[in-house]
This record gives sequence, structure tokens and C-alpha cells, in this order.
Amino acid sequence: MPDAVGDHVFGTASGTASGTASGDGFDALPPGCSADVADAPMTSPVPNAGGGPVGRTTGDAAVVVDDLVMTYGDVLAVDRLSFEVAPGTVTAILGPNGAGKTTTVETCEGYRAPQAGRVRVLGLDPRRDRRRLGARVGVMLQDGGAWTGARAGEMLRHMAALHAHPLSVDGLIERLGLGSCGRTTYRRLSGGQQRRLSLAMALVGRPELVFLDEPTAGLDPQARHVTWELIGELRTAGVTVVLTTHYMDEAERLADQVHVIDRGRLAASGSPAGLAARGAENTIRFRARPALDLTALTAALPEGSAVVEPTPGSYVVTGKVVPETLATLTAWCAGQGLLPESLHVERRSLEDVFLELTGRELRP
Ligand SMILES: Nc1ncnc2c1ncn2[C@@H]1O[C@H](COP(=O)(O)OP(=O)(O)OP(=O)(O)O)[C@@H](O)[C@H]1O
Ligand SMILES: [Mg+2]
Repeated sequence: MPDAVGDHVFGTASGTASGTASGDGFDALPPGCSADVADAPMTSPVPNAGGGPVGRTTGDAAVVVDDLVMTYGDVLAVDRLSFEVAPGTVTAILGPNGAGKTTTVETCEGYRAPQAGRVRVLGLDPRRDRRRLGARVGVMLQDGGAWTGARAGEMLRHMAALHAHPLSVDGLIERLGLGSCGRTTYRRLSGGQQRRLSLAMALVGRPELVFLDEPTAGLDPQARHVTWELIGELRTAGVTVVLTTHYMDEAERLADQVHVIDRGRLAASGSPAGLAARGAENTIRFRARPALDLTALTAALPEGSAVVEPTPGSYVVTGKVVPETLATLTAWCAGQGLLPESLHVERRSLEDVFLELTGRELRP
């Protein structure tokens, strides 16, 4: 296994911002070379530079989004959004297309100025203190973030050279399977290779906080698993991770905390398990002889339960499924001389909760 990355040594703070992008109102600058960052000193000016992750020891929120409002012309992209990110945790921001995730993250990265409200990152203002934050924050943008004409290897080496204590470039290249791409220009890399290179560029400076906007979009399963491993290692090292994703399994697997954003507003927050348990709306399925007396069974079950027989002999109990529901159901069956078959309780997934919160309609 290559050094550094595999050895869980992400935690030392000496990074610099690696992202860039273009777009309306966006500071279009090459990676690590924003007006504030380009002339940043090689050694981080922050007191903790080169030391352990400050995130875990401060006790303060690593990211504060407070009543943030962002608009593009008539489009209200972020609508009085507030949430905090605890240091040393992995936070997943979920939401349908156009919910305002990228706008929010880019504001935290200092690429956009809040139109109302306030954003703080590691206790600092992402725009005013951009130079100081650039040394401590890694950024993987949803799109771009690289010079399209530069060779992958050169770009990563350049990024590493901007940092006092970078990770091993060769180690990152090997870990992310970019070995054959070193001499290829960014624009000629495949979509998945571009994502992997962008991730490497976000991590190479050993940031203490990383923003990863859809880090696994378009990745093959192998690359997705490696990315999950890396994010797990970041977490172990005490690095704060804020990511966006459309993959509910990814959020369930990686995140300590989930924020669901819909139409620019916070729809729900909690741990993946906590959100899935909201309302304890689970389902019991079982098979038995057809045409059971569902009126009698429903009356026996705790209030709020419903039973249907979608196909003969196949039953679904919905509602507030608690241990008493299962006990009552099996007792009722026993009273009928019935042995229910294939009986199982289905826990709601994060995806079920997400669809309940945000609806099933496609977003424009
Ligand atoms: N540069 C821009 N100019 C005009 N409108 C924009 C711009 N960027 C974003 N928007 C609009 O703002 C809203 C929020 O967009 P944003 O990119 O933040 O959503 P998102 O949650 O990241 O979506 P996705 O999941 O598709 O990446 C959308 O309605 C989008 O069309
Ligand atoms: Mg986005």
C-alpha cells in the first residue's frame, strides 16, 4: 500500500484550496491560484500548521451556515438555510437536483458571497480569510477544478508543491488508479478519471476540512469503493468532511450527519439511522392462507396500523410498527391456528425518507 494515504495520515494541516470553476458570479481561477491563494505562503500561516487536525480540538463548529440566502436573478437557490457541521465528522448534504447544494457548498468555499445570512468555516469568513483557509481546506468541485490542458500528473505535482507537507503524489496516483493517466491532459481523461484526479487534488495538501461535491458521481464501483475508503480514513484522521451526494447508500454508509435540502431550505437533519427511524413507519410482510379477516386483524393491532392483502395470501402491515405490533400480529395468527410464513419487518431506508420529504416529482 502506498505511503501516506494508506497510513491514515490525513490529519496534518497544511493544505490549500484546490478547487476552481467558472460560471456566473464565480471566481474563475486555476486550482490553488485564486487571487488570495496564488501568492499564499508555502507554509500555512495558521498556528496549527503541520500539526494535528485542529478541528477535533476546538469544540466549535467546523462549518456554520446561518440563515443563508442565495439567488440567481429570479431564482431563489438557497432560502434562509441554516446548519452546522461538527468538527471531525462526515456530513452528507442531500437534495434533489437544483436544491441548492452546490450553491451552498461553493459559498462555504468562498467562491460566492452570501447575499444574506452568514457562513463561517473553521471560525473564519471564507472570502475575507480565504488565504488562511486556503491552506487548511480541500475542495472538490462538482465540475471542473482543473486546467483542462494540463497533464494530470503535472497538475497534481504542482498542487502538492504548493503545500508544506503534501501527501505522496505517487501514492495518491496509485491509490486512485491514475497511474496510466499521468501524461494525459485533464480534458482527455474520462469522466471518472477526472473525478478521481479532482479528489486527489483536494486531498494532496492534507486539509483539515474537505468539501466534496458529488465525489462519486460517474465513478465505477471499484473507484467508488476506494473513494469511500479514503473518506473513512479522513474521518479516522479527524478531518472534517462535507460531501454532497445523490446516492442514499453512500450517505448511509459514510455520514455521521445528514442534511436534506429541498428548494433551498432545510427539510430534515439527523443521523442516517435517526432519519430512517423518523415516525417509526416500518412495514411487516407475511404470507398466510388467503382472505384473512382484515377488519378483525386491524382492530387487534395497535392504533394507526393498516393491513392490506395486495395479492391473495400475501399481507402487508403498515403504520407505526413497534414491537407490540409484531407481538399482536403473531398472537392473533396463533388464535386463528395460523403459522405466518416469510414474515419479516422492513425498516425504511434513507431513500424512502428522502422521497417522503422531497416528493417524487422530477425537479425542473
Ligand atoms: N450560475 C447560475 N446561474 C443561474 N442559476 C443558477 C446558477 N447556478 C445554479 N443556479 C440555479 O440555482 C438552483 C440551485 O442550483 P445548485 O447547483 O445549487 O443545485 P444542486 O442542489 O447542487 O443541484 P444538483 O444536484 O443538480 O447538482 C437551481 O435552480 C439552478 O438552476
Ligand atoms: Mg450540485
